Amino acid sequence: MTARNTIDDPHTGKRVFVTGGAGYIGTHTLVQLLSERHSVCVFDNYSNSSPQSLERVRRLVNHDFDQVEGDIRDEAKLTRVLGEFNPDIVIHFAGLKSVGEANLFPVKYYEHNVQGTIALLKAMDAAKCKRIVFSSSATVYGAAKYLPYDENHPLAPENAYGRTKYHIEGMLGDWVKAGGDASAVLLRYFNPVGAHESGLIGEDPNDVPNNLMPFISQVAIGRRDVLGIFGNDYDTRDGTGERDYIHVVDLAAAHLAAVGYACAHTGCEAINVGTGTGVTVLEMVAAFEKASGRKVAYRVTGRREGDVATSVADATKALRLLGWTARLGIDEMCASTWKWQSKNPQGYVQRGKAA
Ligand code: NAD
Ligand code: WQD
Repeated sequence: MTARNTIDDPHTGKRVFVTGGAGYIGTHTLVQLLSERHSVCVFDNYSNSSPQSLERVRRLVNHDFDQVEGDIRDEAKLTRVLGEFNPDIVIHFAGLKSVGEANLFPVKYYEHNVQGTIALLKAMDAAKCKRIVFSSSATVYGAAKYLPYDENHPLAPENAYGRTKYHIEGMLGDWVKAGGDASAVLLRYFNPVGAHESGLIGEDPNDVPNNLMPFISQVAIGRRDVLGIFGNDYDTRDGTGERDYIHVVDLAAAHLAAVGYACAHTGCEAINVGTGTGVTVLEMVAAFEKASGRKVAYRVTGRREGDVATSVADATKALRLLGWTARLGIDEMCASTWKWQSKNPQGYVQRGKAA
């Protein structure tokens, strides 16, 4: 990327349009954007969230923001809203994210994720907005040719969800090239977990959680009887899968750093967001029991199709380009998840009731 001087202080006072801002990572990022005095407009169809999460954000910070219900596939509405809001930059969280569902309904995933991003880019072009931070995923790498994964690792996603991210990354690269002074930061998240320290916002999966941390916390709170551990015969310290869990508050901070970076540079950069440290399933269970004081019953079952033994980030590029590094560890991840879960045993249940 090359530096440019068009924005005096790239880190403060921006107009930030946030797609999918009512979701898990979006809400945590909003708290930090608003605390840093950025002006925000959230655009979300609440297909995997509810406006209650945004009310919780309002309770946490002393700044209001715009909120529009809409679908990113609706180009006309996006064009109108973006034209009115006139953003400096877009953070693009909106999309569908279940690996299993994507393999069953790939066209739906291409429609929301890829088609939705095409509509967003067209609306951004109409509004002359040339900067974007995109929620990508470590899943774009596929099976490890070497570890830790750095950003030059070959991209070979092994499921339909990952392929939607792969195609969006390519499209954003082309959009930036054609745009002259445009910029895109593609944040490749590893495994986001944890919650805001207040316990007011957190991850609230619909139905049975696909991911480890929400499953563990629902067992601890008594919503589910037993955690299935997907294999203990991997080539890892204790035979269970090893992942690079990243605290969602650290992940949110990476977005703020990426906004600053994109406002000060042109070009397209893919950047890993992880800690560089792996934690196994059994280590996570033990840490959660310690943080919650609850027993987490588990049973080892067979391997889950598509799982790899180990996924860990080389997170040095984030430090080099963004000046960002993870600060919070597994104990904070478990303690904050437990606080959120125990204060909200059914999540934002009250979908449709008061927040
Ligand atoms: P989330 O489901 O909590 O948030 C996504 C938000 O987008 C939700 O509020 C949902 O209602 C909204 N949305 C979905 N489709 C939409 C559409 N067509 N139009 C408008 N809004 C729509 O998910 P999250 O965990 O906060 O993830 C945010 C982004 O990060 C997603 O793009 C996801 O693929 C990506 N990501 C997540 C993880 C993870 O493990 N959570 C890991 C890597 C990447
Ligand atoms: C972690 C570990 C499982 C659940 C997924 C997506 C990835 C990204 C993050 C969006 C593995 C084990 C899990 C359970 C278990 N999402 N496990 N019992 O698979 O690393 O990544 O979420 O971009 O794309 O693939 O995360 O939390 O599902 O699994 O034993 O009930 O926990 O086998 O070792 P994963 P996960």
